[in-house]
Amino acid sequence: MKQSFERILITAALPYANGYLHLGHLAGAYLPADIYARYQRLKKRDVLFLCGSDEHGVAITVSAEKEKSTPQAIIDRYHPANKSAFEAFEMSFDNYSRTSIPLHHETTKEFFREFHSREIVVAKKELQLYCDKDKMFLADRYVEGTCPKCKSTQARGDQCENCGTWLNQTDLIDPKCKLCGTTPVVRETTHWYFPLGRYQDRLMAYIDERNKRDGWKDNVLRYCESWFKDGLQDRAVTRDLSWGVQVPVAGYEDKVIYVWFDAVLGYISSAKEWAIAKNKPDAWKEFWQKESTKYVAFIGKDNVVFHCIVFPAMLLAWNDAHTEHYVLPENVPANEFLNFEGQKFSKSRGWGIDVQDFLKYFPADMLRYALAVNLPETRDSDFYLKDFQARVNNELADIVGNFVNRTVAFIDKNFDGKVPLMGKRTAPDEEMIEILKQTPVKTGELFEQYRFREGLMEVMNLARSANKYFNDHEPWKTLKSNPERCATTLHIAIQTVRSLSILLEPVTPEFSANIWKLLNLSSTTDEREWDSATQLVLREGHQLQKPEILIHKIDDKQIDEIVKFLEGGEQIPASVPLAPLKPTITIDDFKKIDLRVARVIEAVKVPKSEKLIKLQIEFGNERRQVVAGIAKHYTPEELVGKTIVVVANLQPAKLMGLESQGMILAASDESGHLTLVGLQSEIMTGSTVK
Ligand code: 2FM
Ligand code: ZN
Repeated sequence: MKQSFERILITAALPYANGYLHLGHLAGAYLPADIYARYQRLKKRDVLFLCGSDEHGVAITVSAEKEKSTPQAIIDRYHPANKSAFEAFEMSFDNYSRTSIPLHHETTKEFFREFHSREIVVAKKELQLYCDKDKMFLADRYVEGTCPKCKSTQARGDQCENCGTWLNQTDLIDPKCKLCGTTPVVRETTHWYFPLGRYQDRLMAYIDERNKRDGWKDNVLRYCESWFKDGLQDRAVTRDLSWGVQVPVAGYEDKVIYVWFDAVLGYISSAKEWAIAKNKPDAWKEFWQKESTKYVAFIGKDNVVFHCIVFPAMLLAWNDAHTEHYVLPENVPANEFLNFEGQKFSKSRGWGIDVQDFLKYFPADMLRYALAVNLPETRDSDFYLKDFQARVNNELADIVGNFVNRTVAFIDKNFDGKVPLMGKRTAPDEEMIEILKQTPVKTGELFEQYRFREGLMEVMNLARSANKYFNDHEPWKTLKSNPERCATTLHIAIQTVRSLSILLEPVTPEFSANIWKLLNLSSTTDEREWDSATQLVLREGHQLQKPEILIHKIDDKQIDEIVKFLEGGEQIPASVPLAPLKPTITIDDFKKIDLRVARVIEAVKVPKSEKLIKLQIEFGNERRQVVAGIAKHYTPEELVGKTIVVVANLQPAKLMGLESQGMILAASDESGHLTLVGLQSEIMTGSTVK
């Protein structure tokens, strides 16, 4: 039985800020979540899409030790890097938070205090592994050994990545300290335990109910069943570490809360942070505490136990004593893993490719498309560079790109670029219109079931049918012999182009927006609505833009370049092909430009504009307003405090009615990736740049 919901809360697993994101991460949780969020927005549903960095736990401290750095320095490096990699990948988060912020510490402590005051968590003395050499308890990833279940030799103290088992460290066979390699001893220590077992029956009933309502994936159900079969155990939710959220109980200040207990609450903190930024501090409750919210948590398969068992148990425990109830996930669509060229991604073995590196070679849409057709939805899948090239060239470029281009070019050449009149329809016309009507419905149903590969397949089939329709009707012949027929064919073809632009938006947002521009439709005033893709919306006589190739094929040389990079032979960034240089100028010409160092004091997005940000900048004693087209690359928060370079004597201009008193300098490459020009070291604002 389907439930009807008023709003949709979507979260994607918070990645650890201890390394760069790779393509495997994208295929696991992030791309599916973004496709879903974009689709729901096109359905005009009220969506809140959240993520952020997971900045606690041993994942961070071990990385700090490996890199001879501090946990703070590690998260301060990887949080912004991953945030901007996500932006480059066109993730449409409403908020990307981080768990080191005070707001999140407070949220976590609030839950812990609640459970402590109601005696849900209890202190117990237990034996834990201790390294005599490093003089510390070996929490979580500080110890490795053999998994008692699957016998993988690389199981960690809290989890075996191979079989997904959530372990008690003392169950590890042949444990070794991760830092010095010696065999630890056992010592007694006190920790606070959460009684998972107490919630088992309710968790089973909850999963059963939601599965009936929303159809959970088999892999997720199987994992849960196996945990229930073993019987849920009490779990320690504190650790003897100094990095993390401090235990808010007197006498236990030297311990921190277990990273998984705080990470899942990061979804709530991220919503709170979003609400505060919107100046509606209570708005997060609309999503988190209303029964009419549908909450979908996207994750990779190694996170199932924490999202299907631990987090719901925590929320149930909270809800038991409050009238405002948190919503539990309606579904947890976990993906399997993506391999790279036949092998598992592995940071330690240097196998794989980071998102930011990949996007220096290819636009995000190409990667999004190739990953989407190959998502590990039901089993592990593989990413091969040659396959990536073939998918982009033979499908995205040859099927969709070609259809869009040939239609717009034909209309440009033969109908002055105006949408031709629809004449009398024949049976094949009706058939084509029927496919156009059906595709958004079928794709929508598949997306609602988290079957993104198949949903995309339907969209590609629409493009295939449209190409066939174009070929079969030979408009280049009917142009002379039967002009009305020719006009009708092109009318239906261009309406299909419009529908494709909408239907592809969840997967390839930039390509889709560029098709929209070719149609001379505006992103702000022309309705982009999923359901309108079933209809023939373009008006006869509507003027189109000039044709333009939107997807350029990938040649072998480009693949060779990235292979060379992967082999360590070449340093990226690969330089962009040199655009023709402008005519030579004299030094006096250059001196006419007054470039100044300035600082951003305030930044806000310009309402109704996807690109513009309004900045207040200061240099010397001048204060200016500058409007810059950088919203796709920077958030307002990131800009505040940044030192930038501004053209200070440029004639003021108006952008969307706002005066811009200068221009800030930025570099951009062919794919449109943009970075602000900065300075190597601190210098007073107002200084000249020459
Ligand atoms: O596996 C991971 O990368 C975890 N950092 C995911 C956390 S998801 C949520 F709980 F925050
Ligand atoms: Zn195992």
